Amino acid sequence: MTEKDFLPQPYTQTIENGHYSWTAPSNIALVKYWGKKEHQIPENPSISFTLGHCKTTTTVSFSKIVETDAFSFEVFLDGVLKEDFKPKIATFFERIHAYLPFLKQFHFKIETSNTFPHSSGIASSASGMSALALCLMRIEQALQPDMNATYFTQKASFLARLGSGSACRSIEGPLVVWGAHSAIDGSSNLFGVPYPYDVHDCFKKYQDTILLVDKGEKQVSSTVGHNLMHGHPFAQERFKQAHTHMSAMVSILKEGDLDRFIAIVESEALTLHAMMMTSMPYFILMKPNTLEIINHIWAYREATGSKLCFTLDAGANVHLLYPENEASTVLEFIDTTLAGYCQNGHYINDVIDLGAKEL
Ligand code: PMV
Repeated sequence: MTEKDFLPQPYTQTIENGHYSWTAPSNIALVKYWGKKEHQIPENPSISFTLGHCKTTTTVSFSKIVETDAFSFEVFLDGVLKEDFKPKIATFFERIHAYLPFLKQFHFKIETSNTFPHSSGIASSASGMSALALCLMRIEQALQPDMNATYFTQKASFLARLGSGSACRSIEGPLVVWGAHSAIDGSSNLFGVPYPYDVHDCFKKYQDTILLVDKGEKQVSSTVGHNLMHGHPFAQERFKQAHTHMSAMVSILKEGDLDRFIAIVESEALTLHAMMMTSMPYFILMKPNTLEIINHIWAYREATGSKLCFTLDAGANVHLLYPENEASTVLEFIDTTLAGYCQNGHYINDVIDLGAKEL
C-alpha cells in the first residue's frame, strides 16, 4: 500500500447531515516509537498492547455547508467548548484533507470525553485522534457504501497516525504493530496492523496498572522529543535496536517467555528515557518516585519470582504489566508499597483489549 491508495474515488452518495460516535482506547508500547520522518513516518517499528479502560468517546455531528477555504468545526470536552483544542484539530484536518475531501463541505460539532481524568498525565492523543478518525471514516463510508472493512480500518489507522503517530495503534487490538519490519507480514509505516502471529495464552488479559506519579502537563511535547532524534548521536543504533527487539518479540510472544519479555520491555522503557537524557537539549521526564517504584519492582521480583515488569511513556507515570494470574498478589503489592509513590495514591487498573467500537 502507498499513501495514494488512501485517496478516495469520487463519492457515490450525498448526505446532508448526521452523527456518529466511537469509543477508542489508549495503547501502551512494548517496543517504543521515538523518532519520525516527514508525514509521521516512524523511524522504527513498534508494538503495543491495546488498553480496555482508558478510552476516549467522541461524537461527530455534521451538517452540509457551502464549501469555504477554512474548516468549520467546534470542539467540546465534557460538554465544555474548548477553543484551545482547535489548533491541533485544524492541523489534523489540514493533514488529512487530501484523503477526506469532504472536510470543507460540512460543519462539524466534535464532542469528546475521556474515561481517565484530563489531569492524570495520561495522554489522550492516541485515544482521541483514533476516535475522531473513526467518526470521520464513518462519514466517508456513508458517502461510499461499498467500502470494504479492511480499507475502513486501515484508513482509520492511517488518518489517526497523521493526528498523533501512536494513535494508529489504537484502532484494533490486542497487540498492534506499526512500522515496516521484515519479520512481520503486512507491517506498514502507514498504519497499524493487528499482530499477525501466535500469541501464548499467558498474554491473554494481560494487566496494565498505571501508577499516576505525576499528573501534570508534559514538560516536553512528544513532537519536540521526536524531533530531537534528528542528529541525535545514538539515533541510528537505537533504531537498529528496535528492529532487533521486534524480531525477538515474535518468539517471546509465541512461547510466552516472560523473562525475555520483561528484559525487552524494561530495556525499551529505559532506552526511550535514555534518548531524552542524551539529546541536545537534554531532559529528564522521570521523577524521583518513578525510580523508587522501579527499584521496588526489581526487589519484589527478586523476592517473589513474580513476572511483574514496568514500562514508561514520555512522562513520569509507570505502567505495571503483569499476567492475569498475578492480579491479586500484584494489587496487594501496589496497595501496600507502590501506591504511596503515586500522587494522592492514585492508580488506574487496565487490561488489554480488542480496540475501538462504534456506539
Ligand atoms: O504518538 P506520539 O507522537 O505522541 O508519540 C508517543 C511515543 C511514545 O508514547 C513515547 C512511545 C510509543 O510508541 O507510544
